[in-house]
Amino acid sequence: MENLLLSAASSAHQTLPDARFVVPAEHRPPASPAGAATLPVIDLSLPRAAVRAAVLAAGRELGFFQVVNHGVPLEAMRDVEAACADFFRLPAAAKAAYYSDDADRTNRLFTSTVYEVAGERYWRDCLRLAVFPVDDATRAAWPDRPPAFRAAMERFIVPTRAVGMELLTLLCEGIGLRPDYFDGELSGGATIVNVNHYPPCPDTARTLGLPPHCDRNLITLLLQGPVSGLQVAHGGGGRWIDVEPVPGAFVVNFGHQLEIATNGLLKSVEHRAVTNAAVARTSVATFIMPTMDSVIRPADELLAAAGEPPRYRSFTFREFMGIYKTVGARRESVEKAFKI
Ligand code: OGA
Ligand code: NI
Repeated sequence: MENLLLSAASSAHQTLPDARFVVPAEHRPPASPAGAATLPVIDLSLPRAAVRAAVLAAGRELGFFQVVNHGVPLEAMRDVEAACADFFRLPAAAKAAYYSDDADRTNRLFTSTVYEVAGERYWRDCLRLAVFPVDDATRAAWPDRPPAFRAAMERFIVPTRAVGMELLTLLCEGIGLRPDYFDGELSGGATIVNVNHYPPCPDTARTLGLPPHCDRNLITLLLQGPVSGLQVAHGGGGRWIDVEPVPGAFVVNFGHQLEIATNGLLKSVEHRAVTNAAVARTSVATFIMPTMDSVIRPADELLAAAGEPPRYRSFTFREFMGIYKTVGARRESVEKAFKI
């Protein structure tokens, strides 16, 4: 618990508490000036054919895009942001009940990341919650303080997950998979919310909030809030694009499972979070995941249509998660374990 960046005693860090926060020189921001490219912002209220084309183009080109007019009420987004920020402002004693260093526990408050493979540390605290299906047991595992937390999370997560499922349907239509390909087991595992909290950092030049990583799941919807910090790899050679906050938008990206199921048609792209000295940043990431026993492999229909061999072997999601824990977050090390 004392490891939390935002513990009461250390709410304003004057210096890095620990040399392990200093990332290797080649990973420090800015590794090179952030690129000028911007993520497309797609209006989901446009006609379906236009949305489908835009989502597919953005997904193939950058692997990342933002969506607006997605149907999640702005108020539900604002309320969950406020409840999450309030959670991190609770006194340390109130947060202690949720804190755990046990990475196998789903619902927990922790610091840094599970991606540490050499003891390095990252400038973020995280509240991780299983959020689907929303039933009594799910709700009971969520923080009950601040008092508005559970209701706000529920009002947010139900429509947010639905947007994720709708995007999967649109992507299927776009690439020529049957529209319900990802329904059922492939999206029926846990849906996880990471509430990421990045306190002001005294050494933004030598730290990261999150290391370069690809997400482990199928699809991710990120509410990044009004403070920027997310960067997306673009064009190779250590170039990063800043993701500008767009009010009311979700940032959408594909996880490893979507890349593998589409035989590499949709790419899982590396991203990272940088720190800032002035203000705390809270982001809310929603991850839709397969069930642990789902078999993940390139879709037969796509292979047949393209006349291509599979680029990845088949595996269960459980196997993937086990391997992911040991190889670290970098895209190439994860790929190596599953590429044919
Ligand atoms: C994540 C993530 C980015 C952010 O939680 O996987 O990439 O901006 N978060 O917080
Ligand atoms: Ni991520």
